[in-house]
Parts: sequence; C-alpha cells; structure tokens
Amino acid sequence: MSANGNHTQGGNNGSNATGGTGGAIAVGIEDLSFATTEYVLPHTELAAYNGTEIGKYHLGIGQQSMSVPAADEDIVTMAAAAAAPIVARHGAGRIRTVILATESSIDQAKAAGVYAHSLLGLPAATRVVELKQACYGATAALQFAMGLVYRNPSEQVLVIASDVSKYDLDSPGEATQGAAAAAILVGANPSLLRIEPASGLFTADVMDFWRPNYRDTALVDGQESISAYLQAVEGSWKDYSEQGGRSLEDFAAFCYHQPFTKMAYKAHRHLLHYCGHPVENDEVARVLEPTTTYNSVVGNSYTASLYLGLAALLDSDADLTDRAIGLLSYGSGSVAEFFAATVVPGYRAHLRTKAHREAIDRRKPIDHATYRELHQRSFPTDGGDYPVPAQTSGPYRFSALSGHKRIYEPR
Ligand code: CAA
Repeated sequence: MSANGNHTQGGNNGSNATGGTGGAIAVGIEDLSFATTEYVLPHTELAAYNGTEIGKYHLGIGQQSMSVPAADEDIVTMAAAAAAPIVARHGAGRIRTVILATESSIDQAKAAGVYAHSLLGLPAATRVVELKQACYGATAALQFAMGLVYRNPSEQVLVIASDVSKYDLDSPGEATQGAAAAAILVGANPSLLRIEPASGLFTADVMDFWRPNYRDTALVDGQESISAYLQAVEGSWKDYSEQGGRSLEDFAAFCYHQPFTKMAYKAHRHLLHYCGHPVENDEVARVLEPTTTYNSVVGNSYTASLYLGLAALLDSDADLTDRAIGLLSYGSGSVAEFFAATVVPGYRAHLRTKAHREAIDRRKPIDHATYRELHQRSFPTDGGDYPVPAQTSGPYRFSALSGHKRIYEPR
C-alpha cells in the first residue's frame, strides 16, 4: 500500500464504503450541538492594544474574534449548555455513558462530566468519565463511544468536548484563545453522520504545547507546534491509507482541528502535497472556508474545535447528502487521528443551525481592559467562601467556590 493509498473502501475488517460493518448496524453521530461564552473580544481590540497590524490576525492566522468566558462560566457550564438541547430532544433514557473530554480540567480527581450530569438531570445509572489528550481527547471519546454502541446498539453515549483556551497575556498564543463546548450524541442508525471504521492513527512524544498542573495557562512552542501538527497529518493519513481507508478524491469535504483557522489551510495544503495532488489555493479555500465560519469568531476551543468545524460545515449551504467527509483530529504532545464519516440522507432536518448562530450572535463584545481583568481572575486557595459575580445569561452558572468546592446552579 502506498502512502497516498488509492483504496476506495471505507474501512478495514470487512467494512464497506458507506460506513457500515459488512451489513451490520451503522453507528455515528445522532445529534451535534455547541455552546460558547457570554463575551467576545474582537481582534481589533487586541490589535489596538498591542500595536499588531490587524491583517496578521484577520488574514495571517484567520481569526476575527475570540469567545471569552464570563466570571461564572467554565468548562462545566459550557458543557451543560451544549448538551441540554440534546437531552431535551432525545430524552435521557438511553444515555448510559457520558464522556467529557477537556484539557482545561477543573479538578485532578473528580470528572467535570459529573457536574454536567447533575446539571442535566441525567439518571444515576450512568457511567461518567473525563478524558484527556490535548485537543484530540474528544475524538478518542467518540471512538470509544462507538465501541460501546456497537456492543449494545440500544444505548447512546453523550460525548462532550469542552475547553477554555488560555495563554499568557501578551504572548504570541494570546490571539488564538477562545472557548466553547460541543456535545455529540453517539448512537446506532444515526441521523447526521455514519462514522466509518477505518481510522488512521499517529502518536509522537513531542513538547509542542503543554500545561503543567501548576499553571492555568498553556505553554507552547508556536512554530514547533505547527510542524508537529503537519507531521501528524502525514502520519495519520499514511496509517489511514494502510488501514484500507478511502482515497483522497473520494472526499467531498475535509474538516481539520483549527487552533486558528489558517492552520486548516496549512494542513490541507500539506496533505495534498504529500499525496502528490496539485495545491491550488482557490480550491483549498473553496473546500475549507465552510468549515471555518464558527472557529474564526470563537477562537480555539481545543477539544471542541474540530466539532465546531464540523457543525459549521453541516450548517453551510452545501448539500452533503451521502457524501464523505474526512476529519483530522490533532492533540499536541501529540496524538492525531484521520477518520471518515458519511452524511446521512435527511440530515438537514436534524441540524441546529439557528441555535448555533444564536450562540455566536448573543455574545456581548467587551473591551480590552475587561478581557484582561477576566483573564487575570483567580481564587484564593484558602478554602473560604467566594461567591462569583453573576454575569452569564446562559442556562447554567458557576456560582461560588466554597470549602474548596465548586458550586454550580441553573440560572
Ligand atoms: N498581514 C497578513 N498576514 C500577516 C501579517 C499581516 N500584516 N503579519 C503577519 N502575517 C502572517 C505571517 O506571515 C504568518 O503567516 P504564515 O504562517 O502563513 O507564514 C502568520 O501571519 C502568523 O505570523 P507569525 O508566524 O509571525 O505569528 P506569531 O509568531 O505571532 O505566531 C502562532 C503565530 C505560532 C500561531 C502563535 O499564535 C501561537 O503560538 N499560537 C498557539 C499555538 C498554536 O495554535 N499552534 C497550532 C498547532 S498546535 C495545535 O493545533 C494544538 C492546539 O490547539 C494548541
């Protein structure tokens, strides 16, 4: 098998191109919903403060604005806000597992998903766990969820990706911050996407981006992180081809993890070049632009970023019925996975386009001084009672830190 893999099958182990398992059940995404923050900082504000030419942000990295959490928002409130519409539509009766993926964890022991489970009113008979491998975690969660559903197709798994991307003030990474949560309901005979069995995997021990336990901002070697990402694109595609994946021409669309939206362009150009395909900028833009509309105004949402890209693609005007989408998930450190999904006929009736646009449009613009103040907020660590100012107009809030315990409540 060559690195560019001219196979047309959708997977190995007797699977077929439509994502089934040799005539068995199809498993994939039944519903997809995202939530973001109360506030938004336009990049024009950041540029005016630090003297950067705005073209670097708008064109160079492809970012217009970044979501900024209110004082009483965090990964739990966003996770519950993203998942609540899914629970409202499908009920909780078949959800027996919740996997919350994050790299901006709030506790070293207790899973953030347990708080979300409580806010969502899910049944006690649920397994809840947190998963971490940088921005890749949600894709691991999705794959593990698929296994659970294959084992018992009557069960659904709620996968939630929730992150606040936070770098040091005045660092190069600052312009690529953001925050959001994506909730994904995984089940049999899905309404949106069938996930195909073939997957390309890649792991390399690199220090491109990391966050030691004693820090609340990430450390990053910017240029190293871009090279590590591109290496991972190559490695995961090579393995995908060797596992009997589709050929590049089979895909109607590609969706990449977007730490900043221009990274998707770098990644796709790299993949085309690696596979010996011509790299035409207009064509690359045509393929990728529909996947960047949410991320360009939300910023990096780490684990959720790929799935905001997917939501943007599905919510776009293009009719993707029965078409294949290639998805590339990258998590620094690093682990990557290239996998494929086919779009289910009738998918548009199940989309949440209006709610997604509202989640973005409802954010309140803040000035640079307010953003800086929010960025620098922290709690004393003495176990005292610290109520959090009521700022969010979202459905859930982080209302206090008391006796070292985080208190959440519906708003
Ligand atoms: N007009 C138009 N373009 C301009 C410009 C202007 N006035 N000024 C600069 N640019 C362009 C540059 O030419 C450059 O483009 P290319 O990448 O195509 O060469 C782009 O703007 C960025 O400029 P710099 O490289 O000089 O910017 P920087 O030194 O500030 O670093 C960064 C950019 C490395 C992305 C930095 O923001 C960073 O460290 N971000 C965090 C790390 C990150 O996101 N890494 C991505 C891979 S890791 C990953 O994916 C996991 C994850 O989620 C973190």
